Amino acid sequence: MTPARPTPSLQLDAAGRLKHLLTIEGLPREMIVSLLDQAETYARAKTRKFPTLHGRTVCNLFFEASTRTRTTFELAAKRLSADVLNLQVAASSTTKGETLLDTLATLEAMQVDMFVVRHEASGAAHFFAQHAGPGVAILNAGDGRHAHPTQALLDMFTIRRHKQEFAKLSVAIVGDILHSRVARSDVHALSILGCKDVRVVAPTTLIPPGIEAMGAKVFHTLEEGLDGVDVVILLRLQKERMVGAFLPSLGEFHRDFGLTRARMKKLKPDVLVMHPGPINRGVEIEGAIAYGERSMILQQVTHGIACRMAVMTAILGKEKSR
Ligand code: CP
Repeated sequence: MTPARPTPSLQLDAAGRLKHLLTIEGLPREMIVSLLDQAETYARAKTRKFPTLHGRTVCNLFFEASTRTRTTFELAAKRLSADVLNLQVAASSTTKGETLLDTLATLEAMQVDMFVVRHEASGAAHFFAQHAGPGVAILNAGDGRHAHPTQALLDMFTIRRHKQEFAKLSVAIVGDILHSRVARSDVHALSILGCKDVRVVAPTTLIPPGIEAMGAKVFHTLEEGLDGVDVVILLRLQKERMVGAFLPSLGEFHRDFGLTRARMKKLKPDVLVMHPGPINRGVEIEGAIAYGERSMILQQVTHGIACRMAVMTAILGKEKSR
């Protein structure tokens, strides 16, 4: 599989409508705003059940572990009245050597309309989208280090619910930027929405090349990186993607880059503390503040349902054409 950079044309049809969601990069601002507005409608709705995807089938294909993304995609599909398949990859015929494309073709033969795909390879969702049948949608639920577009949407949704204008915000993303698909997707989303002060804060070994070209400013100390920020997005160290030593020790990382009660006191009183999860208490965040007054972490989880409903509605919420 060749890690590829999805082009807007693969995820947008000729009329500019979303047909797959592979990456935030290249999406028009109006489309992101429209998805956030639709998510707001779902989040405020008194009912939890909508007929939008009645008769449609959504399949969760997770080749990597997940708690939040898989379950909120499942809930989102069920709240839209879709039938939902959860392929247990570890117990599937992929363990007998069946290829990704044969797995895709097999499930398409069951008339699946949408696949939600998580895979450790950057470019996996793009690969699926290139080979999906006509009218079959692919949603990227995280591919390697590359992209996690629905995480970025729910992060923007969470920020927008608490802050007025992206253009006036300072947002710092702290931690393992190098291995993080969330960092990349959040930087793209913040830039598209007009945020002019996007910072990444990490030791030199955890900063990817090219991040400044994406619009982020690089900082190597928390003191400078968090000065005056409105939002702090913490990231866990992605040990499963690290090859070799990037840090002297977890203790030193916590000492230099962990958010603690003492450091919280120096931040703005209305700062938002965010984290995509899973959190590693005592590493990137002190346990006592994980669900503290300024923490948005559990709200982010809740918002994931509405945002994923909005994406599914944008792609499948129309007359079935196949
Ligand atoms: N934020 C996120 O992707 O969490 P999961 O790995 O639990 O899905």
